[in-house]
Amino acid sequence: MIELQHTTKIHDESRQGEALDMLPTGKSKGRKLYIESYGCQMNFSDSEIVASILLDNGFETTKDYKEADVVFINTCSIRENAEQRVRNRLKEFESAKAKNPGLVVGVLGCMAERLKSKFLEEEKLVDVVVGPDAYRDLPNLIDKVDDGNKAVNVLLSREETYADISPVRLNSNGISAFISIMRGCDNMCSFCVVPFTRGRERSRDCHSVVKEAQDLFNAGYREVTLLGQNVDSYKYTKPVAEDETQGQMINFAQLLAMVAEVSPELRVRFSTSHPKDITDEVLYTMSRYENICKYIHLPVQSGSSRVLELMNRTYDRQWYMDRVNAIRRIIPTCGISTDVITGFCTETEEEHQETLSMMDYVKYDFAYMFAYSERPGTLAAKRYEDDVPEDVKKRRLTEVVNKQQEHSLYRLQNFVGKVQKVLIEGFSKRSDQDYCGRNDQNSMVVFPIDERFKPGQYVHVLAERCTSATLIGRIVE
Ligand code: SAH
Ligand code: SF4
Ligand code: F3S
Repeated sequence: MIELQHTTKIHDESRQGEALDMLPTGKSKGRKLYIESYGCQMNFSDSEIVASILLDNGFETTKDYKEADVVFINTCSIRENAEQRVRNRLKEFESAKAKNPGLVVGVLGCMAERLKSKFLEEEKLVDVVVGPDAYRDLPNLIDKVDDGNKAVNVLLSREETYADISPVRLNSNGISAFISIMRGCDNMCSFCVVPFTRGRERSRDCHSVVKEAQDLFNAGYREVTLLGQNVDSYKYTKPVAEDETQGQMINFAQLLAMVAEVSPELRVRFSTSHPKDITDEVLYTMSRYENICKYIHLPVQSGSSRVLELMNRTYDRQWYMDRVNAIRRIIPTCGISTDVITGFCTETEEEHQETLSMMDYVKYDFAYMFAYSERPGTLAAKRYEDDVPEDVKKRRLTEVVNKQQEHSLYRLQNFVGKVQKVLIEGFSKRSDQDYCGRNDQNSMVVFPIDERFKPGQYVHVLAERCTSATLIGRIVE
């Protein structure tokens, strides 16, 4: 998110090249792992699972790929430029491999799943290709490479949720963490590669989600973000014979309440909500718990009903507006952000105007905006011609971005003069004299340090002014 600041964004191939940063464990055999993640927050979360699996197998980690024995790159396929970025990065690893022929180079994640063994032909330095459901097999695959083979496991699973694996928190501020509550996606949005790279949707055991939240809280964390491609379709049926609630089905609203009950001091966020599935029950649950943040990421993609149908989003313009109306009615203070695609197949100028008018209607707090990028194998690639010229896509994108800038500023200005409850996350990026944190609606707030308060504590901040991305204020009693 163009903005590492908005950490709830789960689809952000602009986050790139973040290496993990953690202390090695004692039981290390001493081999060093370097892992770099691209793409959405799901991938970053998966890298924490991968690190956990390898630490259990005696690895240490390093932040410098030049001293690594194993280099992993966890990849994203969502748009062509996301893949290009990974290929460019792999080129940079070539010299490390030349210096150390024993170096194991692995490609993980969505690109691995999309390209499978073809990756080994295309990029000669790659030794191992592993899809998102095969990470338990990594130690075994590394052994194979050590024996002089190339190794591939891209099997997708209908069950794997890594529920029993305790993620190693990487690059963590010790205050906010992500909890994966489901994997895969059963929607078939025609532009989207995710159902092919991540497989069928499955929900994780609700008890393991709550336990992870509780463990994080006990370790001092004060904010969790529940992650899934479509959190509103979370559905977990307790196995028969587990307890007296056997066979009971838990939906997303119920899971949200269970996590919120961990502690009123634990903020709960979630991403992503699908407009076709977000229920009033979820909205009422949000309004019932003070600690469930009043912020919803509700990707619209297009404001035109005809384009939405081609996109196979299964809602139309009116339905989307009705969902926004329901949010405003049930949670009047709720922040709303979105994703927009410009120049989807056959999109006309009038239809593009409908996207702009939808933006005017909602006045989003924040948006992630993209020019359509055709992905091989998707329904749109098979059915429709990618016929909007690149310069038109880009011009429409610029119009959407400009409009969003106005709206972001408008929303932030509305907070000026008001007191915000802020969870202190740490020092501001720009100055060690200032703290930063977010308000309920996920807007970044910067304010001078007050020695009485530490990161991880809540403070009330009077917003005195704003830039287009940040509120600036001071702590008030
Ligand atoms: N599961 C979420 C988001 C999925 S991917 C949802 O359903 O909303 C994140 C965002 O990337 C999408 O919301 C969409 O705006 C964008 N995106 C996905 N595929 C794309 C493509 N082929 N070209 C351009 N943008 C794309
Ligand atoms: Fe892709 Fe649609 Fe699934 Fe989101 S809901 S991951 S856009 S297929
Ligand atoms: Fe995420 Fe990119 Fe895969 S957005 S699910 S890492 S294709």
